[in-house]
Amino acid sequence: MLAKHNNHCGEHNGVETSAGSKPKFYGRRKGRKVRKAKTSLLECFLPKVKFASPVKFGIEPKDIYLEIGFGDGQHLAGQALKKPEIGFIGAEVFQNGVANLLSLITGIKEGSNLPENITLTTDRVDNIRVWDDDVRLLFAQIPDNSISKVFVLFPDPWPKKRHADRRFINPDNLKEISRILKIGGILRVATDHKVYKGWTLRQLNAFPDFEWTAKTSDDWRKEPSDWVKTKYQQKAIREGRRAVFLDYKKIK
Ligand SMILES: C[S@@+](CC[C@H](N)C(=O)[O-])C[C@H]1O[C@@H](n2cnc3c(N)ncnc32)[C@H](O)[C@@H]1O
Repeated sequence: MLAKHNNHCGEHNGVETSAGSKPKFYGRRKGRKVRKAKTSLLECFLPKVKFASPVKFGIEPKDIYLEIGFGDGQHLAGQALKKPEIGFIGAEVFQNGVANLLSLITGIKEGSNLPENITLTTDRVDNIRVWDDDVRLLFAQIPDNSISKVFVLFPDPWPKKRHADRRFINPDNLKEISRILKIGGILRVATDHKVYKGWTLRQLNAFPDFEWTAKTSDDWRKEPSDWVKTKYQQKAIREGRRAVFLDYKKIK
């Protein structure tokens, strides 16, 4: 169902509302109040970079990467800057996180006045598309064998046993990730949580489509060469926890 509503960008916006059944989502969708500039970014700029199927970027991408649960967007924005030839799809349910990514992309910060026409800053290639909802609702819109890398970075660990079915790395999601990944494509999972590390290794080692690429302990203990630090990783570092970086290759 499409619900029409007015916004201060001077346009009528078609915003999708939940009409059908959605998978249950356990995290936060909204946090502290989104400040005015960021609200405007969500209303006026998000429609310009919002994912639509079939996905198109401002470039003809060499490959397409997907980041699931990008949080505040540092890794996604940083990767997209480093790799202007790649098209990036970012999925995040948390509205404040989406607003932060838009702020990183446009250079518009809280408290600053919005320019008349918000555009990408001139030194940034138009290579990010944003899905501001549960990625499980996006999967069906992504064709088989079309993605070269999937990032799941510091997913919520849900450490209690009784919450294990909430963990994002699970057989249903792995099946979808495997379907959309090209053969030879990479699923990268990073975590600073002991329980989640063991869980991820068990889930992925039991999944025949994937092979762990690590040959030595440095391959999973050290940040990969193309890494950009995330907010949760920085928090883990401050609190003395070490992260692991698990790269799995799709082999069939
Ligand atoms: C612990 S945070 C990590 C954020 C970021 N990757 C980082 O390292 O700073 C996990 C993020 O995943 C998002 N998330 C969880 N499940 C999701 C889903 N099904 N679809 C999209 N985002 C999801 C949450 O909203 C949250 O922002």
